[in-house]
Amino acid sequence: MAVDRRAIIGTLKQYVPIGVKRRVRRALPERYRRLWDPDWHRGTVRGTKAFWDELGKLQLDYLVEQGLQPEHYLLDVGCGPLRAGVHFIGYLEPGHYAGIDKRGDTLERARQVELPRYGVEDKAPNLLVNGAFEFTKLGQTFDYAIAQSVFTHLPANTIVRCLVEMAKVLNPGGRFYATIYENPQGKTYLGEIQQSERVVSYPDCDKYHYDLDTLRCACEGTGLTMSYGGDWGHPDNQKMVVFRRDA
Ligand SMILES: C[S@@+](CC[C@H](N)C(=O)[O-])C[C@H]1O[C@@H](n2cnc3c(N)ncnc32)[C@H](O)[C@@H]1O
Repeated sequence: MAVDRRAIIGTLKQYVPIGVKRRVRRALPERYRRLWDPDWHRGTVRGTKAFWDELGKLQLDYLVEQGLQPEHYLLDVGCGPLRAGVHFIGYLEPGHYAGIDKRGDTLERARQVELPRYGVEDKAPNLLVNGAFEFTKLGQTFDYAIAQSVFTHLPANTIVRCLVEMAKVLNPGGRFYATIYENPQGKTYLGEIQQSERVVSYPDCDKYHYDLDTLRCACEGTGLTMSYGGDWGHPDNQKMVVFRRDA
């Protein structure tokens, strides 16, 4: 007989005090969250429901301001559970959105749950599970790309890998927007930085911060040129940098 684990956990939950529930949640590895939470994939990006909606829409609004049109092709690097993807997919013509993420479980769940939830399952997004930024495997080239809250988790050499691969799939003049925690004090500053009430960043561990010269250096020789986009309304003070593919 099939056991409905979620129903059992739901029943038991009523009898457990909230403080105990919180401690159990914090202690359990993230992969067990799916036992009681049908939207566990959303938990792979931090925050409340409002934060989910805010950060998803913010990315679309920002890129539209930067010139994104429905006929453009967009690559969403580290697209996660499609928090922004669902908005981009809704806006772009069918087949013009591609998303890549190293987590197959999150991406598959987002495909099953978020695409129908936002009514965009017929718009043929090109979704790929890949952790090495092998964008050529998508079989498309792009006018725009975005990596929101991705470089903030990556060491510098992994960013270099991403930029080298990005140069292969960006159309001439195409732009790759990446968010970072900025270190305005330059690379000789090795301390932590309080980025917002909730976030502290570090020079050499997650969440990483970068000074602009280090990022300029990371894209040197790749065919991309970096400029600073600065503040774009991110609630935790992530700044925007833009890598443009030379024409
Ligand atoms: C904080 S989430 C941001 C998700 C999404 N960009 C958004 O704004 O909702 C970071 C995402 O980057 C993905 N990621 C981290 N390293 C990656 C890599 N090397 N290749 C592909 N995805 C990666 C993680 O799996 C995660 O989904």
